[in-house]
Amino acid sequence: MCGIFGYCNFLKDKDRKEILEILCNGLARQEYRGYDSAGLGIDGDNPGEIVFFKEVGKVAGLRKRIAESNINTSKTFSSQVSIAHTRWATHGPPSTVNCHPIRSDPSNEFIIVHNGIVTNAAALRQVLQNRGYKFESETDTEAVAILTKYVYDSQPGKRITFPSLVKTVLKELEGSFAFVFKSIHYPNEIVTARRGSPLLIGVKTEKKLKVDFVDVEISGPDDGKAVDGFVPTAPNSRLAPPAPKISRRQSRNYMSEDGMPQPIEFFVASDASAIVEHTKRVLYLEDDDIAHISDGQLHIHRLRRNESGQAETPATRSIETLEIEIAAIMKGKFDHFMQKEIYEQPESVVNTMRGRVIFDDYRITLGGLRSYLPIIRRGRRIVFCACGTSYHSALATQAMFEELTEIPVSVELASDFLDRKTPIFRDDVCVFVSQSGETADTILALRYCLERGALCVGIVNTVGSTISRETHCGIHINAGPEVGVASTKAYTSQYVALVLMALQLSEDRISFTPRRRAIIDGLRELPVQIKKVLELDSTLREFANTLLANQRSLLLMGRGYQHATCLEGALKIKEIAYMHSEGILAGELKHGPLALIDENMPVIIVMTQDSLYPKVQSAFAQITARKAQPIVICNEGDDGIKKGVKTIRLPKTVDVLQGLLNIIPLQLLSYHLAVKNGFDVDCPRNLAKSVTTE
Ligand code: UD1
Ligand code: M6R
Repeated sequence: MCGIFGYCNFLKDKDRKEILEILCNGLARQEYRGYDSAGLGIDGDNPGEIVFFKEVGKVAGLRKRIAESNINTSKTFSSQVSIAHTRWATHGPPSTVNCHPIRSDPSNEFIIVHNGIVTNAAALRQVLQNRGYKFESETDTEAVAILTKYVYDSQPGKRITFPSLVKTVLKELEGSFAFVFKSIHYPNEIVTARRGSPLLIGVKTEKKLKVDFVDVEISGPDDGKAVDGFVPTAPNSRLAPPAPKISRRQSRNYMSEDGMPQPIEFFVASDASAIVEHTKRVLYLEDDDIAHISDGQLHIHRLRRNESGQAETPATRSIETLEIEIAAIMKGKFDHFMQKEIYEQPESVVNTMRGRVIFDDYRITLGGLRSYLPIIRRGRRIVFCACGTSYHSALATQAMFEELTEIPVSVELASDFLDRKTPIFRDDVCVFVSQSGETADTILALRYCLERGALCVGIVNTVGSTISRETHCGIHINAGPEVGVASTKAYTSQYVALVLMALQLSEDRISFTPRRRAIIDGLRELPVQIKKVLELDSTLREFANTLLANQRSLLLMGRGYQHATCLEGALKIKEIAYMHSEGILAGELKHGPLALIDENMPVIIVMTQDSLYPKVQSAFAQITARKAQPIVICNEGDDGIKKGVKTIRLPKTVDVLQGLLNIIPLQLLSYHLAVKNGFDVDCPRNLAKSVTTE
C-alpha cells in the first residue's frame, strides 16, 4: 500500500541535499508496503515555489532522477516542510501525473500526499469541474487538492488557518485516508490527518521535551464547518473565517525542560520503520485527528466533537518510545527480508511466549486477556475473522480451540464474513487475527462486530495499530517487524499465540491437565525443533532447483491440522513464486481433485504422524496408484514410507503443534522457487504488505 513521509525542521539548518536524502530514505524504508511509483515535493529557491520529483517504479529511480537534475542541493533551510509518497495505484495507472504529491493547480497552491481511497471523489470532481476547475490526473486525491483550493479561495480575505481549512475539506470526504497537506499560502506549515489509514509523527530534539504528550485542542463551534452540502451559490458569501478559538490547553511539547522553544524536527509517516532511524519518540494519530505543525509546534485538533462538546477520544496523545531497533528492520546477513524472517522463527516464537509461559509450573499468563477470560469462557461461540495467512493461522488452531474450550468455533475470511452480513450477537466472542493490524477487510469486520456488542479480541503483531487499539482486549504476538510481503514468522507467532489463548482458556478444566501439559512441553521444545527444520534448507533449495524448477503447478495435500499447512504453503508458493498451487484436504481427493493426478502432476503430501496418519496413507496410496511421485513431508524415523520416495523428514511434536514445524519447509521451498526464477521475493507483483483498502 501507499507510504507517506513528511519532514519538518525548525531552527535546525539542513541543506537541500540532506532534506532530499531524508525524504528518499523515509520512502525506501516503507518500500516493503508495496508501491508502483514514488514522488516528493520540496521548497524551491524562491518564496512560493515548490519543486517536484516524481518517478514511476522504485525509490532508486527517484534518487537517480534527483541526482541527474540540476537542482541546487547546497541551499540551506533553517526551517522548512517537505512531503513524499510511494503510490500503489487505485485510481489511474502508475504514471508521473498520477504520482503524489498531487497539486491543486499549476501554481502548486496546495499539494497533498494521500493513502487510502476517497469514495466520493467522483462526485466532488464533477462539482468542481462544473465550477471551472481543471483536473490533470485520474486520482481521487486531486479532487481533495482542488477542493482545498476552492475552500481557500472562497474565504473572504483568505484568513482561514491551515488546520481549519483542512478540517472544512475533510468534512466533505467519504472513505478512508491519511493525508499530508503543504501549501505556498502557509509556508513552513504542514497539516496531516487520518481516518482509517495509519499515521504517526516522530519528534526529534536535542534537549528533553518538557512533557511527553500533546493536548487535543477543541476549537470554537464555527471552526472548520462543513461546506453546506458543497453546493455554494456565491463562493465569497460562505464560510466566515473564524479565528481558531482554542478552548483547551495549548500544545507544550515543543518546549524543552527549561521552558524555552528549541530546534526540533518532525517526521510524519505511515509506518514506524521510516522514523526509527531518526528518533524513537513517536505519537500515533487517532482516526479524525488533525495534526498541525508550525513554528516548531505540534497541535492536535479533532475533526468533530461529540454532542457534549468533548473530544470522544482521550484528551491527550502521548509521545511514546518505540521499542524496535533499526537493526530489526534491516536485512542483516540475509539476501531478502523473507529469508531473514524465516530464519528468525526459533527466536520469534520464543518472543511470543516470553513472560507468558512458565514451563515448570505449566502456567500460561496472557496479561492482555486476564480480565476478559470469564467473559470469553461464557461466550456462546468463538468467531475468528482474518485474511490470507492470518486466516490460515486461525484455521490451523480451530480444532484445538474446539477441543480445549468446548465452545463452538468458526473461522471466517473477513471479506466473506462482511459480504454475508453474518449474524453476530452480544454473547459472541470475535477474534481478529492480523499481522499489520491495518487490513481494511479485518478492520471493517471488527467494527461490524463492535456495533453488534460482541466481545472483540485482537491477535496482532503491530502495537498501536488500528485493530490493536479498537479491540476490547487481545494479545500482541511480539514477532517483531515483518517486512517481506509474504508472511512467515507472523504465521508461526500467531499460531503460538492462539495455542496460548486456548491453553489459558482451558486452565480451569482438570480433565484436560495431561493434554495441556503435553502441549506446553511441546512448546518448550519448539525453538530447538524449528532450528532442526531450518537445517533442511539446502535440500529444499535442491528440490526447487531440480524437481520443481520448471513445473507450472503444485498440489499440496494433507488433512486435519495439516489442511491449514497445505493452504498456507500453497499461498506462499502462489504469491512469491507465481506458480499455480493448491492446498487440498486429502479427504476430498476422491470428490474431484484426484482427476488432476497423473505422472506429470507435482504433489507434496503432508504425512506426519497424528491420529489421521492411516487416512493420509490411504490418500498416498490413491495418488501413487495414479503414478504420482509425491514428495512426502513426514516425521523423522517413520519407516513406513517406501524406499525411493522423496521425503522431507521433520522432528515430531504434539499433534496440535506439528503444523508449526511442517510449514517451514514450504516457506523455504516457495522462497527458493522465487529466487530461482529471479522474482522480487520481498515485494511480489500486485501485492502489498498491508492491504488498507477493501
Ligand atoms: C504488556 C506490555 C509489555 C510488557 C508486559 C508485562 C505492551 C504493548 N505490552 O504485555 O511490553 O512487557 O505487559 O508487563 O505494552 N490488546 C488489545 N488488542 C490487541 C492486542 C492487545 O486490546 O489486538 C491490549 C491487551 O488487552 C492489553 C494491551 O493491549 O491490554 C497489551 O497487550 P499485550 O502486549 O499482549 O500484553 P502483555 O503481554 O501483558
Ligand atoms: O496484516 P494481516 O495479517 O491482516 O494481512 C492479511 C493478509 O493480507 C496477509 O496475510 C497476506 O495473505 C500475506 N501476503 C500472505 O503472505
